[in-house]
Amino acid sequence: MDSFLIKGGTPLRGEVAISGAKNAALPIMAACLLTSQPCVIRRVPNLSDVRFMGQILNWLGAEVRFSDGNVRVEAKKIKGAGDYDLIRKMRGSFCIMGPLLGRLKRASVSLPGGCVIGARPINLHLKGFKSLGANVKTEGGYVHASAKRLTGGRIFLGGRAGSTVLGTANVLMAAVLAEGVTVIESAACEPEVVDLANFLNAMGAKICGAGGPTVTITGVSELRGAEHEVIPDRIEAATYAIAAAATNGQVLLRGARADHMHAVLDKLADSGVRLETSAEGLTVRRNGRLKSVDITTLPYAGFPTDVQAQMMALMALIPGISIITERIFEARFTHVSELARLGADIEIEGPSAIVKGGKPLSGAPVMASDLRASAALVIAGLAARGTTQVNRVYHLDRGYENMDIKLRQLGARVQRIEES
Ligand code: EPU
Repeated sequence: MDSFLIKGGTPLRGEVAISGAKNAALPIMAACLLTSQPCVIRRVPNLSDVRFMGQILNWLGAEVRFSDGNVRVEAKKIKGAGDYDLIRKMRGSFCIMGPLLGRLKRASVSLPGGCVIGARPINLHLKGFKSLGANVKTEGGYVHASAKRLTGGRIFLGGRAGSTVLGTANVLMAAVLAEGVTVIESAACEPEVVDLANFLNAMGAKICGAGGPTVTITGVSELRGAEHEVIPDRIEAATYAIAAAATNGQVLLRGARADHMHAVLDKLADSGVRLETSAEGLTVRRNGRLKSVDITTLPYAGFPTDVQAQMMALMALIPGISIITERIFEARFTHVSELARLGADIEIEGPSAIVKGGKPLSGAPVMASDLRASAALVIAGLAARGTTQVNRVYHLDRGYENMDIKLRQLGARVQRIEES
């Protein structure tokens, strides 16, 4: 597996183009299953997860063509089953269930299983399908859902940790073709859900209120093909913003949407990072000392769990104590022991990590088994003295388009070592 060799200590300078959002592109691609007409999705990031979603759609019978950051999907005839070998590789692939149920009124999809960041249940997805009148059972590792007809209803989708992003997406995609009106309460408010709703509305769906906790869907009998441009990736933008701050740099995040990043930008500003928005994007600049800040991850518009690890890497560099509390995924601290290998002083206390920042970091071989944890190690490596080897970067390739190339454009000394 490839690794990154990072020689730390160079401030990031220049500009970086922010790619389309992975977590918006995946459900939007799945939504193309809702119509037999062709759909064209623009600004699709070239990532292994996105290519993999393409393979799943293809396996289901759709014609999928990627070219120059666009993907064209034509799902003339599809089958209603998602195989274990496909689904287990990427949790996000479970969001084919909603569109299959919506269009075919039946779907059998493998349970996605947990992953390194936590158990990741799907009870809320299933509750939503049942509220639409589907008969849902789990057997032999598969979820089977079927209905003669789907009918709108009132669905409360709040769970232990608040709303669910893919659960909301799945129920939305089933409900657009249900009869009558569906109201989702405690819906996820993430910009990726709004992007999906905008795409579905362009296909002819009638969805109101996406972006807030109450979403109303008036069912329609069919959807048509549509074109759509995916929103910029707020998590990628936050990652480069933190990398710029960690290395004492100055970076223009071209195309970044500051209005999707309030919680992250608020914490960076509290810490002393200078931020300027313009028509081109967002400029991040650090000059001088930063101060530590405390963070608690929450559903949107709170601080995103997908930026917790990267922020921890920054806090490890700043003198002072920072308490970082993870409220979304119970096991999302795999970066802690690897950051310790670089010299960070971090203790885990229940759902919180206590970061005693300011200890000098120095390069070491490290490895993470989660996408955002890997990003945190890259940030720490960019700021550390000496050379850091981040192993198994296939995790990064799942979620960051050309990260090594983008970092080099910003002056970082990063080399990809390809496994021979
Ligand atoms: N949850 C339930 N029941 C459910 C679904 C979720 O209890 O049926 C719980 C989860 O265990 C968790 C919380 O609800 O505690 C939130 O999970 P959510 O369902 O929102 O997560 P997800 O939709 O599976 C997406 C992103 C994740 C991101 C989370 C939270 C995609 C493909 N994945 O996952 O992205 O961390 O929302 O924002 O959109 C990443 O990109 O690195 C990543 C992990």
